Amino acid sequence: MTQLIYSNEDLMADHPFARAQVIAGEEMHGGFDEAGTYVSPRTLHRWPAVRAWKQALEAKGDKILDATTELLSRSNYPSREQQKFLLRNSLGQTFWNSLTVTGVFEGRGRFICEATIPDFQNIIVENISELGIGHLHKGLLYAHGADEGGDPKRDGIGAHDAMWYALRDLVFGKDAYPDPEIPENLSRPGDEPLFPQIDGAYAGIMGLLLNLLMIEIRAESFFAFCCDLLDDAELFLDRRAEAAEAREVVERIRTDEGIHTVSLQVVLSEMRTLTFRTKDGGTIAGSDLIDGPWETIVSWHSDRRQEGDRKHTKAQLEGMIGKLDGGDRLVAEFNGLEDA
Ligand SMILES: [Fe+2]
Ligand SMILES: [Fe+2]
Repeated sequence: MTQLIYSNEDLMADHPFARAQVIAGEEMHGGFDEAGTYVSPRTLHRWPAVRAWKQALEAKGDKILDATTELLSRSNYPSREQQKFLLRNSLGQTFWNSLTVTGVFEGRGRFICEATIPDFQNIIVENISELGIGHLHKGLLYAHGADEGGDPKRDGIGAHDAMWYALRDLVFGKDAYPDPEIPENLSRPGDEPLFPQIDGAYAGIMGLLLNLLMIEIRAESFFAFCCDLLDDAELFLDRRAEAAEAREVVERIRTDEGIHTVSLQVVLSEMRTLTFRTKDGGTIAGSDLIDGPWETIVSWHSDRRQEGDRKHTKAQLEGMIGKLDGGDRLVAEFNGLEDA
């Protein structure tokens, strides 16, 4: 029988690493096996668990929510060619800023470790002990937060935030530029409640899960963007070896994110098959509860948010390019490199 129930200890357990992950002298999470392959932190049992829950859903013939970059209706801004243009025109600070902002947002993910995660069994009719959703409060979400911003119980070991800063410093050098302005929020603002039918403590976590899944999907498109740039033989000319190492670090973060995307996909797909107890004493089918808000969140992340960001970023970048010698011509050239 495939194991479907895991303890908090199981979900937090590391592989026995042959070597720790150390970047520029700083110890990071995860490690390497005997063959030198990178292994994500806290995945000794967490990966088998998530795979087992996903297989159980598939075996029942239940729909698994789409969780690929296909959901994104717009490409990255600036485009890869635009970012390359900026790097080659002494505006490396723009890429430095993107890496720093990404690190700051990863660090904020640590709040998940500090949040109170309720037991969803309290508002679900069916028994959820053998499902991913039954493990949200048993460490599944805590492990996710620890991967992003570091485990509050194990200070001194860097997580994704520290990994982004480290790879940024590899390609640019430490303190190459000042700290950028950090945008406020990555999630859709809570202007109207997504799940008014259910108790607020659970509704809040469900909104978080929907936003997190889209944030993971958008991150995947940023990883590809970073890897392409770090791989480009025409960039970081005096730091090619460091750029190659930085690319490896991005790939490790990408490897770690894999379990975030799949676990969120599984939990949200499970929720669609369950029956929720509502605040007014009734019940509602999970698919009726989730499908509308999921559509709202997908469209906000893939479109509405991108539109606002794009205008702001475009104005900022044009301002910086405009100050260079031959600014007007360069701005026109830059805009011509935007993805269709
Ligand atoms: Fe992350
Ligand atoms: Fe993540």
